[in-house]
Amino acid sequence: MCGIMRGMDKKLKIITYGCQMNVADSERMAGLLRQIGYSLTDDLDAADLILINTCCVRATAEDKVFGQIGRFKTLKRQKPALILGVTGCMAQKEGADLLKRAPHVDFVLGTGQSSEVARVVQSIELERKHVVDTSNVSGDIPSEVYPLRGGQVSTFVPIMYGCNNFCTYCIVPYVRGRERSRKPNEIIAEVKQAVAEGFKEITLLGQNVNSYAGGMTFAELLAAVDKVAGVERLRFMTSHPKDLSDELIAAIAGGEHICEHIHLPVQYGSDKILRRMNRVYSVEGYLRLVEKIRAAIPNVSLTTDLIVGFPGETEEDFQETLNFIRAVEFDAAFTFIYSRRSGTPAATFANQIDDETKHRRLNELMTVQNAISLAKNRAMIDSVVEVLVEGASKTDDKIFTGRTRSNKLILFAHGSERAGDRVNVRITQAQTWLLKGDVI
Ligand code: SAH
Ligand code: SF4
Ligand code: F3S
Repeated sequence: MCGIMRGMDKKLKIITYGCQMNVADSERMAGLLRQIGYSLTDDLDAADLILINTCCVRATAEDKVFGQIGRFKTLKRQKPALILGVTGCMAQKEGADLLKRAPHVDFVLGTGQSSEVARVVQSIELERKHVVDTSNVSGDIPSEVYPLRGGQVSTFVPIMYGCNNFCTYCIVPYVRGRERSRKPNEIIAEVKQAVAEGFKEITLLGQNVNSYAGGMTFAELLAAVDKVAGVERLRFMTSHPKDLSDELIAAIAGGEHICEHIHLPVQYGSDKILRRMNRVYSVEGYLRLVEKIRAAIPNVSLTTDLIVGFPGETEEDFQETLNFIRAVEFDAAFTFIYSRRSGTPAATFANQIDDETKHRRLNELMTVQNAISLAKNRAMIDSVVEVLVEGASKTDDKIFTGRTRSNKLILFAHGSERAGDRVNVRITQAQTWLLKGDVI
């Protein structure tokens, strides 16, 4: 009984780094911890348990995490009862080494073990002993784990975990394990629950949703989720260009709530580098796919990821990439400097690129892409778009933000709209990463 009493006011703070998958995992861990009496707080000083859910996709992501863990040393000293846990991709990668570097951490839990978080926390509440468990990288997150979702309009539903693609630069397959798909009925049930909680927009998540194998194709799953009553907008990510099927293109084109936006990471614009990255498609093949998508889905927006400074990249390769992005005209691109991840094949490749060249190329790439993004956004001025209202902007409560179906961020002067409303907005101004407009 004492435990229950104490359990009533235990506070949890989760700090999440990395991709949407980590956000979804954090929500699931929060759901599990709620069952043993933890409620969320934003106040670090009030927290009885702090979870750092980590990313290791690039060295910069890891540096941030180590910085954050270091900052909790003092807090732990002041408050020895505080439990500090590290979960996620970097926990999976570092395991017990993390404790060597940061002995004030109480537990390290790998990606496949996140559903064990409540059990581990309870064991530490009873007996202060370090716990490290990274034993089952391909472990499943049981579907009965109901997430404590953040936000109020838009939410994530994972449909599969892991990745089998082994792009030569990428650590994800090593820290997320092999691909495994959730069952369609579990996914649909979760979507229905999210809708019942008031969410309007669902984003289905997987490292490569096209290889979904839960007993139907991804296109069939998407069409099934599209029919769930109350789903007003449906998105998905990420799609690997090697297996984005005609069936999926048709499903998007024919869907009612499926948004006209495809995030289709190309990574690079030269065949030589694509081959060395193990991406399994050619520049030509990608361009053909883009043509097919644009022919089938009017007003589709295409976004991508690009990496510069991959080992062996020459100035010619880089210029080819610039020409490639000029040819495709992506709506937006996330651009990254190649980060050497030990354990991946590319880390051992010859001709690693020096930092100065990497930064120069990143800047050039961003300059070219930013001009394209801006031109595309400017072309939308005076048009009217449907916007799903997200809420007041962080800096000004008279300005509201929302997204177009094409996933563009839009700012507008607030009238009587509420979060979750869909309104029509006439675009008046365009910037590289956002649009401004007036509700009509
Ligand atoms: N599964 C998704 C995304 C994975 S990580 C996909 O395949 O698209 C998100 C992005 O991080 C990748 O698309 C890639 O552009 C980038 N990335 C992955 N490993 C990287 C590395 N070692 N250095 C720099 N960027 C990297
Ligand atoms: Fe990484 Fe490639 Fe898998 Fe994406 S598809 S997670 S880039 S290995
Ligand atoms: Fe995501 Fe980072 Fe892991 S990008 S899958 S949190 S390594």
